[in-house]
Amino acid sequence: PVVRLQDYAPPAYLVDRVELDFRLDPQSTRVRSRLHVRPNPDGPGGDLVLDGEDLELTALELDGAPLAGTAYKLDKDRLTITTPPERAFVLDIGTTIDPSANTRLMGLYRSNGVYCTQCEAEGFRRITFFPDRPDVLAVYTVRIEARASDAPVLLSNGNPVGSGVVAGSDRHYAVWHDPHPKPSYLFALVGGDLGRVGDTFVTASGREVTLGIYVEKGKEDRCDYALEALKRSMRWDEDAFGREYDLDVFNIVAVSDFNMGAMENKGLNVFNDKYVLASPETATDTDYANIEAIIAHEYFHNWTGNRITCRDWFQLCLKEGLTVFRDQEFSADVRSRAVERIGDVRTLKAHQFVEDAGPLAHPVRPETYKEINNFYTATVYEKGAELIRMLKTLLGADGFRAGMDLYFDRHDGTAATIEDFIGCFAEATGRKLDDFMLWYHQAGTPEVTASGRYDTAARTYELTLEQTCPPTPGQPTKQPMPIPIAFALLGPDGDEITDLKTESPAVRDGLIELTGTRERIVFTDLPAKPVPSLLRGFSAPVKLTANLTDDDLLFAAAEDSDPYNRWQAVQSLATRILIAAQAAIADGRTPEIEPRFLRSLEHTVEADALDPSFRAQVLSLPSESDIAREIGRNVDPDAIHGADQWLRGLIGGELGACLTDVYRRFGSNLPYSPDAAGAGRRALRNTALGLIAGTGQAGIETAEQHYRNADNMTDRMAGLSALTRQGAPEADAALDDFFERYRTDPLVLDKWFSLQATMTGADTLDRVTALMRHPAFSLSNPNRVRALVGAFAAANPTQFNRADGAGYRLVADFTLEIDRSNPQVAARLLSAFRSWRVLEPVRRAAAEAALRRIAGHEGLSRDSADIVERSLD
Ligand code: ARG
Ligand code: ZN
Repeated sequence: PVVRLQDYAPPAYLVDRVELDFRLDPQSTRVRSRLHVRPNPDGPGGDLVLDGEDLELTALELDGAPLAGTAYKLDKDRLTITTPPERAFVLDIGTTIDPSANTRLMGLYRSNGVYCTQCEAEGFRRITFFPDRPDVLAVYTVRIEARASDAPVLLSNGNPVGSGVVAGSDRHYAVWHDPHPKPSYLFALVGGDLGRVGDTFVTASGREVTLGIYVEKGKEDRCDYALEALKRSMRWDEDAFGREYDLDVFNIVAVSDFNMGAMENKGLNVFNDKYVLASPETATDTDYANIEAIIAHEYFHNWTGNRITCRDWFQLCLKEGLTVFRDQEFSADVRSRAVERIGDVRTLKAHQFVEDAGPLAHPVRPETYKEINNFYTATVYEKGAELIRMLKTLLGADGFRAGMDLYFDRHDGTAATIEDFIGCFAEATGRKLDDFMLWYHQAGTPEVTASGRYDTAARTYELTLEQTCPPTPGQPTKQPMPIPIAFALLGPDGDEITDLKTESPAVRDGLIELTGTRERIVFTDLPAKPVPSLLRGFSAPVKLTANLTDDDLLFAAAEDSDPYNRWQAVQSLATRILIAAQAAIADGRTPEIEPRFLRSLEHTVEADALDPSFRAQVLSLPSESDIAREIGRNVDPDAIHGADQWLRGLIGGELGACLTDVYRRFGSNLPYSPDAAGAGRRALRNTALGLIAGTGQAGIETAEQHYRNADNMTDRMAGLSALTRQGAPEADAALDDFFERYRTDPLVLDKWFSLQATMTGADTLDRVTALMRHPAFSLSNPNRVRALVGAFAAANPTQFNRADGAGYRLVADFTLEIDRSNPQVAARLLSAFRSWRVLEPVRRAAAEAALRRIAGHEGLSRDSADIVERSLD
């Protein structure tokens, strides 16, 4: 069944209050639900339809009287109360569920002996019958009862209001009340024998909040960083958006089996433990940064998502895009803004641009879906965040804040739409934003071409900008969109020219607003040819092609005062070199290098005035998938890999002295600290190490030593991956050593699996096949599955895309297996096929065959069927 935005109708009945009573039991949990229902005055009337899935109905009463069999109808996915009273009434529902058998990890399940829930998007219906849609907001009171020894900790949303023992039994209970009306997808419950780390936070207005992080016993000492990140997030939301926390407690629970990263349930965030647990010995700098960002993300949802939620799932970006924008800004403020931006753009291009260019492309606000879980995508999240960023660029910081304030003010406590949101900015700033809505409607990455021409005699610089947007599924033609292009013109000395003169109304204060298909801007009175710095800070999610020469890019790489564009200039040069090199390799020619590129890299790496983490970003070349994306057709992953090897070897050799010098100087005798400065130094040093390791036996030895002497996981992994990346014979011994060191630590073992899944040798397929049978591999742990199979499919371009199709077959077989127990994880794995059409013909045919086989598989889940069908369409 296809769900369409245009078919939205308000709910026929509202639920004002919900009282839930759980009797937890591993195989047979009893749920009693009391719903205080009333007809929606703005609703269509008729039957009361409650969603339900995999439930056993044990009781059903209306106003205290059992319902006759004729008064309701029970179907596979719903319970219909036929013509209920046209007044407020109370419905009591009893259901029984089996948390241990719940392998989909949606609804209530048991992971490692811990009861926990995941209800977004449509998991609450696997707990009890309910109008499981985000526009039904209710106040919840939850009583949880369990054997005290089984689950000494009992948590739900809101504030704790009671607890005690059940007289004459080995059971105890806790009662939670959440005063804030919420949709069912924000419900959460946790029960288990968990350890706790606590703290308090005093909000700006003086409310004292008790903070708790709950983890498996014995892991309490790995929670400090998450706790500190939480407090930073709470303060930041007050400072940056004027948003305070609104309950007496805020709890976070870390569980080891979780389909996604984390979940923002009101007052009770549930996390994949990968995004909570950290110690220098087990977590890398990247892990720390992710923990900080995701803790912040889920916390920020309290206002953008929970206090104001979504009217329907088409509006998902209303909470996700906005909250990603907020967590990106937070990270920029607490770390380095420039480096955060570079990292965010890298991620956007690597995932969202690829999605947007293939068969799974969809608008930031989709208009139809078959399975909503398949729309938690890079487009909704990351492109959604870019739209908020553009809004801020267009309206200015003050206008943006005024719009946000109005939004919080007006829509607090409601389920809103994108129109509501954008309407607040239009109203607060007096700007018409109708055209801006196109960004929400039209899929595809707009392509902007810029060409500049300097006229020496007239002393003018003419800049012509044009936009097009390629067709995407269901959208053959596009309208031009408003594109904010932050810019400067750089003078011959490298400085920004400050007093630009132009008549063009599209230009204001460092910004060009491209609104139509084409814009011609003439800058006058320029004594010399400038170099344009366009799309500064990546001010819009577009593909920019500018007629810049290698000289212009080299100039920008050395001089541009916008750090993002300075980095981008190096990336653009490297991309040109790598594309030419892979073409040369594909036709058996020798690739060529622009020697000034190497000098430019060297210059940046040695520039001690620049932040080491920025220099590490400059030294990190475009990835093989970046190059594949830029080529865009008839892609040969082996040729790209060859080009990558060639260029890395060349850099390692030609910049040898410089890299060795950096490697020596950036070693530290100080104890490890995960802060941005320390992480930046390690990033630069470890990037240098990766290049040094490719230069022969001495390099391998350096990597081996680095691995052995590491006193933290960042360095240990850098050493190990330098060895595995080279496919050095030493890699196997180091991998064995690593396994022995960390065999009892699941999160670290995930790294061991991933590293092997991304090795580039021809024997990797056999290795991955063998690892699927390794005793530490597990189908029921999503992190482990993603670490091995996810990494192989999504991050091993040459071996997944083997010309003989064996990589595709392996992933297809595995996906069909896991689809039976956890369709959401299966569907995610399948999205690795989304770029199959850009491959050269042999691989393209092999990928298509694998997709067709999956599509034809009997009993394929709706989640997976949706992905393969759209991929083949
Ligand atoms: N709302 C969660 C977050 O972004 C993610 C939930 C993902 N749900 C899903 N069904 N895929 O923080
Ligand atoms: Zn989110």
